[in-house]
Order: sequence, then structure tokens, then C-alpha cells
Amino acid sequence: MSRPYRLLVKNAKQLVLICKNSEKYLTKDGMQNLCVIENGSVVIGSDGLIKAVGPAETIRAQYAEALFDKVIDAAGMCVLPGLVDAHTHPVWAGDRVHEFAMKLAGATYMDVHRAGGGIHFTVEHTRAAPASDLLASLRSRLVRMQRAGTTLVECKSGYGLELQTELKMLEVIEEARRSLPINISATYCGAHAVPKGKTVVEATEDILRVQLPRLKERMSAGTLRVDNIDVFCEQGVFDLSSSRSILQAGKQMGLNINFHGDELHPMNSAQMGAELGALAISHLEEVTDAGIAAMAKAKTAAVLLPTTAYILRLPQPRARQMLDAGVIVALGSDFNPNAYCCSMPIVMHLACVNMRMSMPEALAAATINAAYALGRSHTHGSLEVNKHGDLLLLNATRWEHLIYQLGGHQELIRYVIIKGDIV
Ligand code: NIG
Ligand code: FE
Repeated sequence: MSRPYRLLVKNAKQLVLICKNSEKYLTKDGMQNLCVIENGSVVIGSDGLIKAVGPAETIRAQYAEALFDKVIDAAGMCVLPGLVDAHTHPVWAGDRVHEFAMKLAGATYMDVHRAGGGIHFTVEHTRAAPASDLLASLRSRLVRMQRAGTTLVECKSGYGLELQTELKMLEVIEEARRSLPINISATYCGAHAVPKGKTVVEATEDILRVQLPRLKERMSAGTLRVDNIDVFCEQGVFDLSSSRSILQAGKQMGLNINFHGDELHPMNSAQMGAELGALAISHLEEVTDAGIAAMAKAKTAAVLLPTTAYILRLPQPRARQMLDAGVIVALGSDFNPNAYCCSMPIVMHLACVNMRMSMPEALAAATINAAYALGRSHTHGSLEVNKHGDLLLLNATRWEHLIYQLGGHQELIRYVIIKGDIV
């Protein structure tokens, strides 16, 4: 018979709660002053939720070890919340290692895209791939992310650009959600590129009249769960007005607006997103000061993607200006065939070195604020009572090792725990 509690993690050298007053997000001051307990313990119940966190002696006095299915002595280790990756494209076939060589030789992202490569190359291979192959590669990518500490991840469709393949991708994401412990937030991204042979107007019509209505039916029937709607709002892809109509239609279906904006050109995507009540906008390498102010006011999270700017040698997103303006800054890996990175610790490291964030800011951006960008910060992103028991144990006496060490995290991350189970 199982015992009343699933897991006790006791005596952690540092227990990083992130926050402790049910904050839904943190802005600059809160990000710089994370809540950390020296010598702390966590109690996870049989429902996988956190029942208590606090100083080790307080927990010891209240909970006898005999009440637990499992006890981990974390002496000499640090405990942190599981990481949240707020932006990935993990369902696709056909890698693009050849394009990496082109880009190293000087081609830009849009040069490759216009030459029929980039997203178009991946679309062709993804349309042709059986769902079982897509599921197998998705599973192995998600397991890699999990090993690197990610316990909640956003997963986009967007390499179909027509109904059948977009649904195939969302079904594969749904199957992964059912069969793996990692938490998933699913995003419909049918407006990721304009399909070959179509105009923007035709592509937008197809999304509004064919794809979204079918998606709505599947969601109402309970056969598909989709959380967010995305578009690639960019010159030569979806312009401001088509992006706006697609995002609005998604919002009317109950989806959170969470899209790619102001990446390669200043498009005023940030202002448009803020006006629509977007939960999050990603990239923002080219956001204007007015866009930053609009996002701060609307509480639209900025999901910054340090791997993209690094690989494409773009200007860095202006993280410091955003933080100073009170924007809710989050992080994502942007895992996709262009940016092949499954590791949020590497993403945080790049955010610190290239975008000049501090380590506490980067950790808050990869936990509570990334959870907020996905509408999940009431259940994820910090170690607080009633949230999911998702945590990491580090073989280190200071939590900052998770960001300081560049790669090789298999040795550093001793356990990844999701809902109280070691995964
Ligand atoms: O977020 N910018 C648009 N979408 C992706 C790249 C997708 C791809 O190149 O396959 C991104 O970086
Ligand atoms: Fe992306």
C-alpha cells in the first residue's frame, strides 16, 4: 500500500523556491531577489503536488520519514524548480545540417528561406513523414530536454502549412503528452510560413476558413488539446494585418496568443500583440522602445531566444531595456532545425553572457516567467505549496552552477523529478 506522501527531499544545501507569495510572474526587482532557503526540504504528496517547503528542521518536526514512499537526502546538493522552455518547434523530419554550413559561409536566414530551404525544406520532409516517425523523434528530443532539466515545454506545429499535416503534428504532440512525464503546452502555428504557390491572402484564408474551424471541432470533441496560437509576423512571411486576424480568430477559440514578432525587422508586432492581449511574444530582436513600453503595460511576456541571435548572428534582443521598462522577460530554447539546442542551462548561460542578464534573472526567466508565458504559472515555475512537484537536484553546493557550467549537464543534474517521480 502506498504511503500518504510520495517524496521527501531533505537537507538541500540550497533550496531555490524562486518566489513564495503566489506571484504569477516576476519583473526586474523580483527576478534579482529570488527566494532561496539554506538547508531546506520539500514534501510532495501522493497527488504529485507540493505539500510543504521550508527549513529542513521545520519539515523534520512536522513530517515523519515513515510517511513517505521515498526519501532523498540532498545534503551537499541544490534543489531548484524544473525548468520551463517557453518556445520550441520539436516535431519535424529532415535535419538542416547542410544549411548550418551555408550560414557559416555567410548566407542569412532569409537567403536560405527564399532559396526554398529553411522552413520550406522542413515542411516538405514533415509532410512526407509518417506520424510514427515524427512521434519517435519527438519523444527522443523531449527526453533530451528532460535530462537537461526541462519539465514543462511549449511544442509548436507549423511544418505542415496545410490542414492534414498541421493536424498530424498536433496529434503527435498530444500522443507525447499522454505517454511522457514531461508537461507540454501545445501551440498551433499554421502561419509559420506562406506555403509555396500561395499568396499571404490565400494562406490566411485557408487558416481562417479551413484549418481553424477543423481545429475547433477537434478541440470541442476532446480529441486534441491545443493551448496557444502562433504566427510568424515578419516581412515576406505574415504581415501585421494577416497576423492580427489569425491571432484574433485563435483568441476567439480560447487559445492564448503567443507568437513570433519583431525578429528580423521592426514590424510593430509588439504593439499589435499588446493590443490583442497577447500572453507572450517571442524573439523581439528588432522591437522598438514603443513596443517595449506597450508590452510592459499589457503584461505581455517577452520570450527571448538567445540561441537564434547566436546562430544567425542577429543583434541581441535588448533584455536590459526590457527589464528596466518592467517587461516580464522569459526564455526559450527555440529548438528547431535551425537552432538545434535542447538545453535550457545553455540557453540561460547565453542569456547571461550575450544578453547581459544576471544568473538570478535568467533563472526566473526560465522558470516562473516562462510558465507565465504559457499560462501555467499558477501550477508551475516555482516551489510553492499546491504547485506540481517538478524539481531538479544538482550535484553542487551553489545553484548558480546550473548556469556557470557550459554543457556536460548530465554530470551536474543528479535527478529530474516530475510530480514527485524520478524521471
Ligand atoms: O523561431 N522564426 C521562425 N521560426 C523559427 C525557425 C524555424 C525554422 O527555421 O525551421 C524560429 O527561429
Ligand atoms: Fe520559433
